[in-house]
Amino acid sequence: MTEALWTDGVPLADAQAIATQLTDAVLDRFLEVPPGLEARVYEAMRYSALAPGKRLRAVMVLAGSRLFGVAQRSALQVAAAIEMVHAYSLIHDDLPGMDNSDLRRGRPTSHKAFDEATAILAGDGLLTMAFEVLADPDTHGSPSVRCELVAALAGAAGAAGMVGGQMIDLIAERQPLDIGTISRLQRMKTGALIAFSCEAGAILAKAPHERRLALRGYAHDLGLAFQIADDLLDVEGSAEEAGKPVGADAAAGKATFVSILGVERARAQAELLVDQAVAHLDLFEQRAELLRQVARFVIDRRT
Ligand code: IPE
Ligand code: IPE
Ligand code: MG
Ligand code: MG
Ligand code: MG
Repeated sequence: MTEALWTDGVPLADAQAIATQLTDAVLDRFLEVPPGLEARVYEAMRYSALAPGKRLRAVMVLAGSRLFGVAQRSALQVAAAIEMVHAYSLIHDDLPGMDNSDLRRGRPTSHKAFDEATAILAGDGLLTMAFEVLADPDTHGSPSVRCELVAALAGAAGAAGMVGGQMIDLIAERQPLDIGTISRLQRMKTGALIAFSCEAGAILAKAPHERRLALRGYAHDLGLAFQIADDLLDVEGSAEEAGKPVGADAAAGKATFVSILGVERARAQAELLVDQAVAHLDLFEQRAELLRQVARFVIDRRT
C-alpha cells in the first residue's frame, strides 16, 4: 500500500473505525445527489448505505488486500462496492414481501423512511452502482482484473449466491429443511458475499492460487458461522443492541440452525466453524491477525 491504513497488530475496533471512515468517504463520493428529480433515489441509497452498519465486509476487503500489499485506493473502491451490494440486500430483505421489518441499523427501514417503490429502486441503484465502481479504472489499472472482480461479485450476489440463498430462506418458512440444506442456504445467502470480501484482495493482487484458496477456506467456514451467530442474536439478542428486530425468525416459523439444534449446539457449531476458519490462515502467519480477530468477533458480537 502506498500509505499504511493500519499496522499489523491493530485492534479490530480501531481497524473498523478507520475502514468505516475511509469506505464511507468513497460511498459519499459515488452517491453524490444530482440536481434532477431522481435525487430522491440517491437520498434513499445514501440513507441505507451510509447508515451505521459494522462495515465488516469492508474490513475483510481491506484486511485481505493488506496481506498482498494492494494499493489502498483499489481496496477502498472494492470495499465500497461490496458495502453497496450488502446495503441493497438489507433493503430488499426488509421489504414487506420478504422479512417485513421496520428497523435496520437502529433506524426505520428504507420502505418506512421513504416508501416501498423507492426502497426497491434504492436497492436496484446500489446493486448496479457496485458494478460501476468495480469497472471504474480507479479500481485497478488492469481491465482483466476489473473483469474478474465483476464476475466474482456477480456470482456471489446472484441466483447461485445471495439471491438463491434468500429464495431458499423464504422456502424455509414454509417447509421443514434438513440441516444440510440449511447450511447450504446460509452459505449462499450470507457466505457468498463474505467470500467475495475475503478473496477480493487476492484478485486485486493476482495472488497465487494457493493463497486465494486459503482465504476461500477461511470465508467458507466464517460465512456459515456469521449466519448462525445472526440467528442466535435473533433468539438471544436485543433490538436495542442489534439495531433490528429480534424474534423474527421464530415468529416466521423459519428453520435455522437454532430452531433445529437449539441454542447451545448451534453456538458450539459456530465456535467450531470459527476455529476451522482461523486454521486456514496459518500460511499468512502474523499478517492475518486482523482476520483472526474478525473471526472471533463474528461469534462474540452483540450487534
Ligand atoms: C446482516 O449483516 C445481514 C446478514 C447477512 C446476517 P451484518 O450483521 O453485517 O449487518 P450490518 O452491515 O452490520 O448492518
Ligand atoms: C438476510 O438474513 C441476509 C441477507 C442476504 C440480507 P436475515 O434476514 O437473517 O438478516 P437480518 O437478520 O434481517 O439482518
Ligand atoms: Mg431474511
Ligand atoms: Mg431479515
Ligand atoms: Mg437474521
